[in-house]
Amino acid sequence: MNPQNSIAPESTENARPAAAAPQAEQPAPPAAAPTATPAESAVPRKVSEPRVLFKGSQRTNRVTGVGISGIGSYVPDLVVTNAELESRYGFEPGWVEKRTGILERRYAADDEGTSDLAVKAARKAMQSAGIGPADVDLLLVGTFTPDFTCPSTACLVQDKLGLDAPAVDLQAACSGFMYALATGAQFVATGNAQNALVIGADVNSRIVEPADQGTAPLFGDGAGAVVLTPGSDEQGLICYQLGADGSGGCMLDRPVGGTARPITPELIASGQHYLKMDGRNVFKWAIKAVTETIRTVIDRASVNVDDVKLFVLHQANIRIIDHAMDVLGIPSEKVCNNLERVGNTSAASIPLALDEAARTHGLEPGDLVLMCGFGAGLTWGTGLFRW
Ligand code: UT7
Repeated sequence: MNPQNSIAPESTENARPAAAAPQAEQPAPPAAAPTATPAESAVPRKVSEPRVLFKGSQRTNRVTGVGISGIGSYVPDLVVTNAELESRYGFEPGWVEKRTGILERRYAADDEGTSDLAVKAARKAMQSAGIGPADVDLLLVGTFTPDFTCPSTACLVQDKLGLDAPAVDLQAACSGFMYALATGAQFVATGNAQNALVIGADVNSRIVEPADQGTAPLFGDGAGAVVLTPGSDEQGLICYQLGADGSGGCMLDRPVGGTARPITPELIASGQHYLKMDGRNVFKWAIKAVTETIRTVIDRASVNVDDVKLFVLHQANIRIIDHAMDVLGIPSEKVCNNLERVGNTSAASIPLALDEAARTHGLEPGDLVLMCGFGAGLTWGTGLFRW
């Protein structure tokens, strides 16, 4: 598919302190006789506490001359319903649906990692764009559930697809796809990439604590991808905003497993390696963040809600989306939701929904699509894309 063509309907004060660096003059303890157990040496975790909700930004940017020439997505076969989770973990019956709108989600098979989902979505996007591996000259993967800490998931995908392209991960959690999209667009707009493959993929089922009702049932696994190619001067992100507020990082984090707090048997035993979410405070932040950033981008682009054909918001909670629709006056027929079937798939959320929307709504050159991601970091990314 060519970008000109339509898609047929088918603050440091709150930052967690880093581990103290060993002083050069002191001899390192012998490896066989450490002076402290790893658990004792762990940096204490900062606790989520009441804070200024959304420290919004008025910074916006624009990158045009970019088209989306192909879209693809993939979700694993295994469907996990609310009823299954409720009976397996003793969750309050009906809670998940009532509080989030989610009915079921997909879980990756035991032999599937994030890169496997990403590759399947990427192949569909490349096919939709009518290009092969040799044509891709940039690969960006938004994910916060990489196959490994090192190497990057993007390098695994590059190898599996047989690409001759630079490949790198962008970690902005549920905003990861929007960060990757805006980054890829810069390469294409400047002529430094002709076919940028931009993927959002996450296997959240591997990082949630299964029995945590407030977190586990919200998340699912999936991947979505787009191919960016040079377009007309009118096409592309006519206005976008990427934002970050690290002071709220502890509201949604994985407390151990990095260099500040390396993983230990004791920390695993206490479940500290799982994703932790202060759901109620993230909810309040998200309610404000989504409405403010969308309003900013639409105003800066000098368009109205009526001018936008489609709104694709991060699929975290139907109540967050409904709130944004109410406040901004967005009619329901312009909003594409799939969270009842796939849950919150983090970086995959927007490209998954976009792929469905492109097929069900049909997108023509000139159509405006508003995409908005938000999540851990805290981060957000909102873009108004002219097709
Ligand atoms: O993907 C990453 C981003 N993740 C999310 O956005 C998930 C965010 N969290 C949630 O989806 C929900 O909080 C849970 C499903 C985890 C838990 O739901 P809950 O326990 O039913 O709480 P809630 O979401 O209904 O309410 C959270 C807070 C409450 O404030 P207090 O009582 O804790 O001070 C509500 O009163 O949000 C408040 N609230 C609102 N505030 C402003 C609820 N609706 C609104 C609103 N405007 N429209």
